[in-house]
Order: sequence, then C-alpha cells, then structure tokens
Amino acid sequence: MSSYAITGASKGIGREFVRQLAADSSNTILAIVRNPDSPDISELASNHPNVHAIKGDVTDPKSILEAASAAAAVTAGKLDVLIHNSNAVDIASVSFNPTQIPFDAQATRDIFDPPFSTGIYGGLWTTNAFLPLIEEGIQKKIVHISSAMADLDFINKTGVSDAVAYAVAKAGMNVQVAKYAAELAPKGIKVLALSPGWVDTWEGEKPAQLVEAQKAMLKQFQAADPELKGQIEPEESVRKSLQVIERLDAETSGLLLSHNGDRVRWL
Ligand SMILES: NC(=O)c1ccc[n+]([C@@H]2O[C@H](COP(=O)([O-])OP(=O)(O)OC[C@H]3O[C@@H](n4cnc5c(N)ncnc54)[C@H](OP(=O)(O)O)[C@@H]3O)[C@@H](O)[C@H]2O)c1
Repeated sequence: MSSYAITGASKGIGREFVRQLAADSSNTILAIVRNPDSPDISELASNHPNVHAIKGDVTDPKSILEAASAAAAVTAGKLDVLIHNSNAVDIASVSFNPTQIPFDAQATRDIFDPPFSTGIYGGLWTTNAFLPLIEEGIQKKIVHISSAMADLDFINKTGVSDAVAYAVAKAGMNVQVAKYAAELAPKGIKVLALSPGWVDTWEGEKPAQLVEAQKAMLKQFQAADPELKGQIEPEESVRKSLQVIERLDAETSGLLLSHNGDRVRWL
C-alpha cells in the first residue's frame, strides 16, 4: 500500500521503475512524463489501473508544480517515495574531457545546461514541489538517481576523464541530496542519491560509434571491477535499486549508494 512518483518515466530506468512497482496492485504509481500520450507510458497506464501518467517537465518549475498538484489529487495529498530520475545531456559534447571545454561562454553553458537543468535545478524544483506530499506520506523517502561517475574514488580508480558536464552535475546532485538530508532529518524524511549501475537503456540498434565508446568504457570500468562483462539490464538495476530504497533509513540518508547498496560495487 505505497505510493511512488517517478520523473523521467517515459523510458529506460524510469519506465522500468513504473513497470516493476505496478506489478503490486496495492501500489499507486505516478509516472511523471513530459508527454503522457506517448505510447511508451500510455500503454503501461492503460494496462495497469494503479499507474497514473501525469504531465510534468522537471526543467520547468510551473510544470512540475502542476504535476505535484495532479499527483496530490490522485493520492489525497500523500506520497511515500519520490524518485527523481530525469536526465539530459548535450549529445555532441557528452564525451568531452575538461580540457575540451571551449573558451566560449555560451557554448560552455550549452554543454552544462541539459544535465544541470534536469539533475540540479530539476532536482530542486521536483523535490520542493512534492515535499508537501512526502511530509504527509508514511515512508517519507526522496531518491535522486545519480551516478558512480560522480564518485571521486571511482573516477580516480577507473581514470574516466570524459563526460565532464554530466559527472559534475551528478556530483552537484549528490551535494544537494546531502543538504536535503540534513535539512529534512528533523521531519523524519530520508533522502538518497542512488547510482543505478551501468545499464543498457539504449533503444534499437546501437550506432558503431557508441559500440566502440562502450568497449573503451568497459576496459576503464574493469579497473574498478575486473570481473565486469558489460552493462546490466534495466530489470536487474531497478530490482536491486528498489531493495536499496526499501532499506533507506536515517543512517543512510544523505549518502550516494550503488544499486548494490554500498559504495564499492558500483557496476
Ligand atoms: N543508463 C545508465 O547506465 C546510467 C548510469 C548511471 C546513472 N544513470 C542515471 O539513471 C537515470 C535514468 O537513466 P536512463 O539511461 O534510463 O536515461 P534515459 O533513457 O536517457 O531517460 C531519461 C529520462 O529523462 C527525461 N528527460 C530527458 N530529457 C529531458 C529534458 N530535456 N527535460 C526533462 N526531462 C528529460 C525523459 O523522460 P520524460 O520524457 O518522461 O520526461 C527520459 O525518459 C538518469 O538520471 C541517468 O543519469 C544511468
């Protein structure tokens, strides 16, 4: 009998959260998506009466406030767990190392804006919009989906120097999570940054460039885990992530944890 709101629920890990949570008919799931009419989510909603597709863009404060109001109307103003999962990157520069950032203020903002708008500002607006519902909920849990790419030990061990804007945004997200955890602890609200692992969420055939990039990443990641064979499926990532969310308590509030529930097994 729990309620969950998930942003960025239209595909990948977000949609898998909705799919797994919907299997328990006593759950109420609010799938926050930019386009509730897209077949990806409307099909899940029409097959599961406990899934409610709600329009909301985390990069637009007014839109996410309206989404929280629509959610409150479904759940009588309560929410147990908020999962802020949305993310965007500038594809053209996603692989940039720090030394590739140009001496051009606008171009630099364009590189950093998508992950900052979704992860940092979106994380704040979404959390603040849904906070009144969380305060009324029983579990009182807020989860921001982050990445091992923002863990200093992981970066230093693997030598991954690229994806600078993405990783910096996720590092900022981790700090925001710790700030929220500190502020909201007196209200019994737990806040977690959760890395979902290295997950294959690509839809359709992968372009050759991506295949090559992932081969190179695999080699780097093997410095952290020599046994690593490749990406995991969304099913495994979300199943394990839900176990970590289930165990989230005052002691782990404010941390970045992996889908395995620790700060070691990131992959
Ligand atoms: N895949 C991995 O290996 C991996 C590893 C570490 C961390 N993560 C993190 O896990 C989360 C989910 O990853 P994923 O691979 O499933 O991501 P994804 O397939 O790229 O989907 C991300 C979601 O974000 C929303 N979104 C995209 N662009 C947006 C924009 N401009 N404005 C607002 N929302 C936007 C979209 O949802 P709507 O259209 O529904 O709004 C989309 O479904 C992300 O936070 C990602 O950084 C993933």
